[in-house]
Amino acid sequence: MGINIGIDLGTTNSCISYIEGEKAEIIATPEGTRVIPSIVATNKEGKKIFGTEAKRQFVTNSLNTIWGVKRLMGRKYKSKATQEILQRIGYEITEAENGDIKISMDGKKYSSEEISAFLLTYLKDIAEKKLDSQIDSAVITVPAFFNDAQRQATKVAGEIAGLKVSRIINEPTAALVAYGDFLDRDGLYAVYDLGGGTFDISIVDVSSGVYKVVSTIGDTFLGGSDFDAVLIEWIMEEIHRDTGPDYSLDRESLQRILQVAEKIKIELSFNEQATMSLPYLGKDKDGQPYNFTKTITRMEFEELTKGLVERTIKLINKSLSEIKAKPSDIEKIILVGGQSRMPLVRKRLTEVFGKKPVSNLNPEEVVAKGAALQCGIMRGNIERMLLLDVTPLSLGVETKGDSFAKIIEKNTSIPVQKSQIFTTISDNQTTVTIHVLQGERELASANKSLGYFNLIGIPPAPKGFPQIQVTFNVDANGMVSVTAMDKKTQLAQGMRVEYSGGLTKNEIEDIIKNAQEHKMDDIKALKEIAARNGIAEELEIIKQFLKNNVDFLNVSQALEVKKIVSNAELLKDEESIEKLEEAYSVLKDTRENLNKIIMSQLGVADNEVVGNDVIDNGVVGNDVLDEGVDYND
Ligand SMILES: Nc1ncnc2c1ncn2[C@@H]1O[C@H](COP(=O)(O)OP(=O)(O)OP(=O)(O)O)[C@@H](O)[C@H]1O
Ligand SMILES: [Mg+2]
Repeated sequence: MGINIGIDLGTTNSCISYIEGEKAEIIATPEGTRVIPSIVATNKEGKKIFGTEAKRQFVTNSLNTIWGVKRLMGRKYKSKATQEILQRIGYEITEAENGDIKISMDGKKYSSEEISAFLLTYLKDIAEKKLDSQIDSAVITVPAFFNDAQRQATKVAGEIAGLKVSRIINEPTAALVAYGDFLDRDGLYAVYDLGGGTFDISIVDVSSGVYKVVSTIGDTFLGGSDFDAVLIEWIMEEIHRDTGPDYSLDRESLQRILQVAEKIKIELSFNEQATMSLPYLGKDKDGQPYNFTKTITRMEFEELTKGLVERTIKLINKSLSEIKAKPSDIEKIILVGGQSRMPLVRKRLTEVFGKKPVSNLNPEEVVAKGAALQCGIMRGNIERMLLLDVTPLSLGVETKGDSFAKIIEKNTSIPVQKSQIFTTISDNQTTVTIHVLQGERELASANKSLGYFNLIGIPPAPKGFPQIQVTFNVDANGMVSVTAMDKKTQLAQGMRVEYSGGLTKNEIEDIIKNAQEHKMDDIKALKEIAARNGIAEELEIIKQFLKNNVDFLNVSQALEVKKIVSNAELLKDEESIEKLEEAYSVLKDTRENLNKIIMSQLGVADNEVVGNDVIDNGVVGNDVLDEGVDYND
């Protein structure tokens, strides 16, 4: 059996780990780098380069230096997130024919999965060389807010790289697994992850070794590089004040400034002040070589960046209020991500939570270590906790009248499988279309469509009789598959949810908020649709009756029914739901009365006729699925 590794595939940096004995160890590059820049590039000679080497040409060859690809995973070109990313990168992204994105590097176009796969191949090679063994499979971590499309994209990237991805787990969960025994009791744990490009705060409920992410929010555009940017701006202002060459700096000089800014920022986490020195940084206004040397204190730097730290604190408060928890309800605050080493971050967290955050394990390595431990747990080498995550949004199907039947509620622990029984809408309907949706709105059309499939070959039967069992399965990686089965014939159809363009956690939040705001409107709209559909159906039946069976009625009965019909027909523009519902109920009563009249005249007893008490009592629900589309459409 080959070796399994854990991979933290970060926006800025990646980290690899494996299990030695019962302990997770980090795998460093031959140069000794343990935290490897997530950068793929081609150099001036067109050769592919990776990691630290690629980072060195970040500014000088920006067009062919692909960084931050994690933010692009599973996204459509036209999505808001992609458009936002476009403003911030130096390489080219275009739209693929199917709406996905294509990244240009050295004149060739790649999908985000392919770029990630280059990185993963590089990481796998490092591990194989170091361990002198074939890598069998990997556990890869993703942010807790990653949706199905983003998780699948990550898995696909692993597969392209020739890695069997045995599990995708959430980063905060991995961090807590790495802390394992240190979590001395059950309760709520906060994972504060301030990385290179993104910030997340996740609150995880740990109970008897089961980890459940109960809240995860953050900012996809807040991380270490923003702290660097503040320092770069400060340096540029200083150069300007010196009347140095600030407006004529070449790319080489900018690259040097960028590197020095990050270095100084890191130094300030350990020292009270730091001195930067950049000799021969172009020429000054008199044409003389310009040397830049400046000292900045930690206090000055904190003053410049406190706004960024406060943005993370705001999100913590939001996260706590979302689950109605107080800071004191949190057992421990675990630090993840290189930027969380900043003393100001620790100081503010101590103030907010009333206790010091925990960073016994290296915040840049802890996620990879948790992933490696998960490999060990899955192989049975390590006896430890079960991992449990939750679905970020509800999943379900569209039913009659633009309704959304939720089958798996948001925040359900995964893996999970749930079924519900549906039926047909028309007599002799032989096809149903399963429209798979994700979201929180009551109206089907207001949710995100994940795809459609048809179940065909249902034996003809009166509407409401067939029993179609729709089953949703969300696996431990958070990936969704759906099947529909006609219970009578056991005929089944299904689909894996296709890539559907990513949702950022902000979008997820928006969806949830939006759903709350629209709940009343949605319910109103659903009622209106139901009443209008009901009116249309009843009108059709009654009009058929008037056409074919009017002889059963006496003159005044016929007149009254006609009056009811013409009144109902006047309601096309009616807006009041009460009036629509009232008309629907009048029509229903009328139709029932007409039935009774016919039956009594034919001499048939009432209870022999009505057949729709047949639907099984054991049926969970009998929502009606919309009629299938014709295959020739
Ligand atoms: N001692 C330090 N003090 C401050 N910042 C640091 C320190 N060490 C590293 N960093 C910063 O941490 C960032 C990288 O963090 P990390 O490797 O955790 O990111 P990542 O996991 O790739 O990012 P993301 O979580 O956004 O995917 C960089 O911006 C780096 O400059
Ligand atoms: Mg990270």
